[in-house]
Formats: sequence, structure tokens, C-alpha cells
Amino acid sequence: MQTRFSTKELEEFSAYLNQEYGLKYLPEKFQQLENRIMPVMKEFDCRRLTDVILRCKHDIQLRMQILNALTTNETWFFRHPSHHKILSKHILPKLIARAKASGDNRIKIWSAGCSIGAELYSILITVLECLPDPEDWNLSFVGSDISSDAIERARSGKYSRHELRNTDIKILDKYFDRYGNDCYKIKPELYPLVEFEVLNLLERWPARKFDLIFCRNVMIYFDESHKRRITEKFLQALNPDGYYLTSANESIHWETEAGLKKLFIENEFVYQKTSRKKTFRIYHFATPSDLLRALNLLNQSGLPYELEKIKQINSGAPKRAIFIAQSDSNRAEELFSLSSIKISCHETFNK
Ligand SMILES: C[S@@+](CC[C@H](N)C(=O)[O-])C[C@H]1O[C@@H](n2cnc3c(N)ncnc32)[C@H](O)[C@@H]1O
Repeated sequence: MQTRFSTKELEEFSAYLNQEYGLKYLPEKFQQLENRIMPVMKEFDCRRLTDVILRCKHDIQLRMQILNALTTNETWFFRHPSHHKILSKHILPKLIARAKASGDNRIKIWSAGCSIGAELYSILITVLECLPDPEDWNLSFVGSDISSDAIERARSGKYSRHELRNTDIKILDKYFDRYGNDCYKIKPELYPLVEFEVLNLLERWPARKFDLIFCRNVMIYFDESHKRRITEKFLQALNPDGYYLTSANESIHWETEAGLKKLFIENEFVYQKTSRKKTFRIYHFATPSDLLRALNLLNQSGLPYELEKIKQINSGAPKRAIFIAQSDSNRAEELFSLSSIKISCHETFNK
């Protein structure tokens, strides 16, 4: 293999990509990595891979370009037909029954790692096709991706015939306007229902709750610890009894511990949040600065946590405490102790 950089440099760079963004470039892909990154390095006048790592910390433009160049955004409409069947035949009837019983007509769905939006729009179309009187519902569909180019395309709602190859002709006529040479644009009335945002799943997320989360063909490249942390965070972002759908090759093996149950529907595994109580540890910190440092550490390490308001122990003490799942508490305590962060007390409880 003829590469411009040494194997050591490429190994360090691929470790950085994996650590910060969950992107996996194994040695057999180093040539591809180099081919993808070189044009960006030229544009930003970076000579070495270590320059890229250092500059990415503060140069958002460079970071965006690197991620746009290195992510694989391959996707198409109605990519997993069985998931659409599960949604229309099993999940939506349950959400409709719930709405009848509770009067709550909200449905909130997240496509995490949505690429150019084909996945989110396919889910939206399935929901609209299935709901009786969709206009009577309060629907909200969120798509997120680490690639800003992908999100820009998602927002444009423009697709090629190839990306719509699995789409029924009736659906095409109903939800898309045709333009140019065999190109299609989502009908404008669907735009208010969707929201797209740039988000690295390994960084902090906005606090929101969803009835359904789809994350497919994204974590396939993540190592087990990243996959586990993100699944834990998905679980926290689900409403009670909410569903998590992922592709078959990304299934998880610690569902009971994670508070998810595994259902087998239409020959696929689907996960549902269980109401089983989970054990947490709550950490009170000696000072606001200890709390702040602890939050920074947790964000850097990707350990899932919840920040909650508490009764102040004394006037100088922080007004918030951190909740961490019992299964992650040893790791968190190790991190706090290595950074000499002072915990005033901690207790264990079920939630
Ligand atoms: C192969 S596409 C899958 C798109 C869609 N979910 C599907 O199944 O058709 C994978 C997407 O994951 C995104 N991705 C990779 N790492 C990510 C991360 N750390 N945070 C958010 N998105 C990420 C990539 O940018 C890419 O668009």
C-alpha cells in the first residue's frame, strides 16, 4: 500500500476518529481514509494528521468538512420494509389505542443517523398512511446526523429516482412533486412535521423524549462500549413503553440489564422500554466547580447520566446532583477520583 502518511500516524488518526466520532477505519481502509481526507487537508492547509486533530478541536469548519468527507451516507427510501410493516401493523395500533385511552395525541419519532433524510421521510409516510385523520394528531419527526452535508440535503427534501427505487408509484405521486430530469421533492405540506439537526451521537444530546427511536446502519461501525453507552442514552430518551429499532447486524445483547425487552415481530427483533425499575446512584458534589468538572468528564467519556435539581445541602453547595446507572457507577467514581473531584455524598436508589 502506497500511503503518504506512516502507519503509526494513520493508526493514531483512526483511533482519534473512533474515540471522538465512532467512525471505524481499520488498516485495510487506510488508503480510502487517505484518499478521502487529502482534499480537505489541502483546502485547510494541514500538512500532518496531527495538525488535523489539533485544529479540529476549535475549527468547526474543518471538523464539519472532515466528517462530511469520512462518513458513509448510503441510504434509500423504505430501506427496511419489515420495519415499516412492524410500525404500521404493531406499533402504531398501540399508539392509537394509547391516545384513545389517555387523550394524548402526540407521536414523537427520532431517526438517529438519518443521513440525507430518506429514513425519516419513509417513516413519516408510513405513519401518515396508517393514522386515521392524521391532521388530528400532534406529530413530530426529528432526524439527526453527524454530517452537515447530509443534513443539508435532508432539509432540501430532494431525491433521485435511484434513492426512491423501493417506493411505490402511488406513494411517489401522493407525497412528492416531480421536477427536472426524474428528480423528486417532498411536498411542502410535510416540512412542518420534520426537523433535521447536526448531532454527534457520542456527544451530549438535547433532553427530549420519543415514542420511537430508529438507529439503523449507524452503530455497525461503533465498538461495543460506544454502542452500549448510546443504547443506554436512547433508553433514557424513550417514553415509557417506547420502541427502539435497529438493524439486525446491530442488535444488542444486554437488553435486560439496559431496561429493554426484546420482541420478535415479523421475523425481526425490536426493543421496547420495560417499566422495570433500574438502580441508580445519585452523586452530590462539594462545590459547583466540582459538579461542573464532573459534567465535563462525563461528557468527554460519553458515560450516560441525568442532571437533576435537588435540595441544597448548604448555601455553597450545588443545586443539582448527577444520577448515574449503577452499572456505570464504578467507572464514574474512578474518573472523579482520578481528577480529584470532591463528592460530598452518594446514595443508591431505584427509579
Ligand atoms: C449508512 S448511513 C445510514 C442511514 C440510515 N439510518 C439508513 O439506515 O439508511 C450511516 C449514517 O450514520 C452517520 N453517523 C456516523 N457516525 C455518527 C455519529 N457519531 N453520530 C451521528 N451520526 C453518525 C453517518 O454520517 C451516516 O449518514
